[in-house]
Amino acid sequence: MNPLQHDSSENEFDPTRSAGEDRHVFNEDFPWDSFDSEWYHGLNYASLRSDDREILCIVRDFFAEAYARDKPPTAWGGIDVGAGANLYPSLCMLPFCERIRLHEFSVTNVAWLKQEIGGGYRASWDPFWRALTEREAYARVADPRERLQRVADVRQDSVFRLPDRDEGGSRDVFNGLASRAWDVGTMFFGAESMTTDLEEFKKAMWRFMHALRPGAPFAAAFMMDSKGYTVGEVEFPAVAIKEHDVTECLDGLAYGVEVKVTGLEATLRKGYGGMIVATGRVSDDGGKA
Ligand SMILES: C[S@@+](CC[C@H](N)C(=O)[O-])C[C@H]1O[C@@H](n2cnc3c(N)ncnc32)[C@H](O)[C@@H]1O
Repeated sequence: MNPLQHDSSENEFDPTRSAGEDRHVFNEDFPWDSFDSEWYHGLNYASLRSDDREILCIVRDFFAEAYARDKPPTAWGGIDVGAGANLYPSLCMLPFCERIRLHEFSVTNVAWLKQEIGGGYRASWDPFWRALTEREAYARVADPRERLQRVADVRQDSVFRLPDRDEGGSRDVFNGLASRAWDVGTMFFGAESMTTDLEEFKKAMWRFMHALRPGAPFAAAFMMDSKGYTVGEVEFPAVAIKEHDVTECLDGLAYGVEVKVTGLEATLRKGYGGMIVATGRVSDDGGKA
């Protein structure tokens, strides 16, 4: 089934039921504009945790090797979908990109990203960058703060919204997630952490993958077996996926896929079972987003 055909209208949202119960609640049912970006950054990225370090190093090596193999005539255009208050996916793409779109739905996260990048990102990102510089391509970037300021382009939009006009292949589209437009992409803790519905998770993955051109390297990270999460006082959803859900979801959308599990101690918060990271290249499946 084309996941874009999924219709959420058959399920009505009941606010008395919490995320993670058997009744599915959808992306549009949550108050994304109440996402407390500073609180989220404080919990997750104030320091470099060992699970994030492992993911960072996997993605670093994968992108560095992909770029060295492809030798593109001009630097890539990259996109991070559902960027939230996390800069490390963008930092992973930084040496290889002349432009990085940070695509994010929540207005609070959009404002936070603009401030964080525009003001020269805070020192808490330095350990993330230091881990990246263990590879030469990253070590060659003289000033990552200045470079991120120069190449970053923060946009507010939903992964589920198509471009206003058919602008397939154009990165310059202002509204909506253009199809087949980007050379490299990341989506970290996004698709499984924006809904409780497995079909909507697949739809988000499908939209992300179709934003990238065939052959584009991508990295996606997921919370495993998550029951949902709290940011400040507000509850947000999750689909309790496992490794095989990621593998199955990427089947037909990607090739050269590697899926790894990390952080099984799950010490970040209650209600999840570890983290999953997938890398690979986008297939040309003929699908149109
Ligand atoms: C768990 S957070 C992950 C944030 C960040 N990528 C990270 O690695 O920590 C989920 C993110 O998905 C964003 N999001 C929710 N619905 C979205 C949508 N329809 N389109 C794009 N992003 C969305 C949220 O605002 C939030 O930033």
